[in-house]
Amino acid sequence: MNHAVAVITGVSSGIGNATAGALVARGYRVFGTARSEASIVPEKVERVLLDVRDGESIQRGVDEVLAKAGHIDLLVNNAGGSLDGAFEETPLGQARDLFELNFFGAVRMTQAVLPAMRARKSGRIVFVSSVLGFLPAPFMGFYAASKHALVSALRSSSLGSRARTSTPTDRPRPRWSPTTRPPSIARAQRCAPR
Ligand SMILES: NC(=O)c1ccc[n+]([C@@H]2O[C@H](COP(=O)([O-])OP(=O)(O)OC[C@H]3O[C@@H](n4cnc5c(N)ncnc54)[C@H](OP(=O)(O)O)[C@@H]3O)[C@@H](O)[C@H]2O)c1
Repeated sequence: MNHAVAVITGVSSGIGNATAGALVARGYRVFGTARSEASIVPEKVERVLLDVRDGESIQRGVDEVLAKAGHIDLLVNNAGGSLDGAFEETPLGQARDLFELNFFGAVRMTQAVLPAMRARKSGRIVFVSSVLGFLPAPFMGFYAASKHALVSALRSSSLGSRARTSTPTDRPRPRWSPTTRPPSIARAQRCAPR
């Protein structure tokens, strides 16, 4: 039986764990990334050891999925972390580490799966942002910046793929609508495979 193939980063807990379980229930073959053999992944989810801050481990992980499943239909860029603190007191090393995880981690994963998706002219990528990806919040400046950066980079890109951000909130925002979608995205979506 041919299953749609999903890769979800960070399935050991939280949103990634719940998403992995939900996709398995919908019939997907799910590969879930974790940094440790010891972390618990949902039933039927195939573990891929990978750290989104490490490009080599990402390439190994994506190659492993492609060798086992042949293709990737869906990437969910979920892995992420947080950082609280006053702007003037936050050590810059911690802020950089957060960007390596929340921003560059998602960028690296996306760059690693895009060639296979482009070759098949098919694929979907979901980016898990945050309400702080479009709203400010006290003492959350660097976390908000990392999520703003992701949203802004996607909005400014012309990847030619149908990438969209997803915000874990009850409100149906901020999905891009025809009125808010910038021309580069609209153009990319017109030429992109669905
Ligand atoms: N929870 C919320 O209220 C909320 C609200 C808005 C947005 N979000 C966003 O939703 C996403 C998930 O949040 P969550 O609350 O579900 O987080 P969580 O429970 O803390 O889980 C984070 C996941 O990311 C993985 N991870 C951390 N560092 C990693 C790395 N370097 N490489 C690969 N995987 C790594 C962790 O896996 P390990 O087992 O390897 O540590 C874990 O599975 C994040 O992007 C977060 O910013 C969450």
